[in-house]
Amino acid sequence: MSGSRKAGAALAWALAGGAAFAAPADLHHGEQLARHWCAACHIVADDQTHGTDNAPTFAAIAAMPGFSTGRLARFLADPHPKMPDMQLSRTETADIAAYIANLRN
Ligand code: HEC
Repeated sequence: MSGSRKAGAALAWALAGGAAFAAPADLHHGEQLARHWCAACHIVADDQTHGTDNAPTFAAIAAMPGFSTGRLARFLADPHPKMPDMQLSRTETADIAAYIANLRN
């Protein structure tokens, strides 16, 4: 039972991710959104000096093995319980994901 429910959820996520990446993402908008929504806890850019201790920096997130914009978009569609539900649109989510991906060198 739970197996097929999981598969359904995965499919829904895949579809949502596909739609999010249909439009080209806007890095600059992603940065603005990150500074607005995420900077209270995460260090989102090099010029930011502090966030909260328990939240990884965006540069660290971008460097995680297995990181991809698709995975990040799925994560943001169903955020970690310690994070607020920010009600971001698909376009906003894609822009933030592209911004974070761009921090990886
Ligand atoms: C209220 C504080 C808070 C805000 C605001 C917040 N986060 Fe987080 N976030 C956290 C914490 C704390 C963790 C670490 C959770 C853990 O590992 O237990 C986390 C983890 C993450 C991870 C996880 C990585 C992983 O796989 O381990 C990602 C990605 C992330 N945040 C992205 C974002 C983005 C993007 C935003 C803005 C849209 C955001 N967060 C806003 C607190 C926050």
